[in-house]
Amino acid sequence: MKIKETLLQRQEIEERVSSLGQQLTKDYTGKKPVVIGILNGAFIFLADLVRAVDLPVEVDFIRVASYGEATESSGSITLTKEPELDLAGKDILLVEDIVDSGTTMAWLHKYFTTQHKPNSVKTCTLIDKNERRAVDVQMDYVGFQIEEGFLVGYGLDCAQQYRTLPDICTLEE
Ligand code: IMP
Ligand code: MG
Repeated sequence: MKIKETLLQRQEIEERVSSLGQQLTKDYTGKKPVVIGILNGAFIFLADLVRAVDLPVEVDFIRVASYGEATESSGSITLTKEPELDLAGKDILLVEDIVDSGTTMAWLHKYFTTQHKPNSVKTCTLIDKNERRAVDVQMDYVGFQIEEGFLVGYGLDCAQQYRTLPDICTLEE
């Protein structure tokens, strides 16, 4: 598949990430949130986001499998890398690149709430894509709302390609 067009320019992304960082700094004042990135897609967004937050954050990662090489969620989630920090009593912020059907985020929200006894669990996604939403999941922080399309760049991949593009682009169907 080939790149079709640029949807979000690097500068637009940078400005939005910076304002999300300011919002988080305000909302978590006096707290030490644990920012948990959902691998692999969230690694670039998370790297920029945590540097836009002026708080003593801790960082951890989790990996789940649901997609394989397809462009649609299989609906079944497997945890392939557990978080490693002690999360009891902590304020967790889950960071995702894009929420599509909502299956992954809903599953993870429940997993952290029920398995790790945190003080709070909030969700942040760079992109909220409405087209195929199947599960009702609450997103606390959203970078951009997108109606449809398969996106790549800034961490988002298609079969492991295009993650390093600085802009977010659509692919030819
Ligand atoms: P969900 O469980 O259907 O919400 O799927 C979320 C996951 O699917 C995200 O973490 C992404 O890894 C992947 N995904 C969904 N849509 C896209 C897209 O447009 N580009 C790249 N990855 C996507
Ligand atoms: Mg992902």
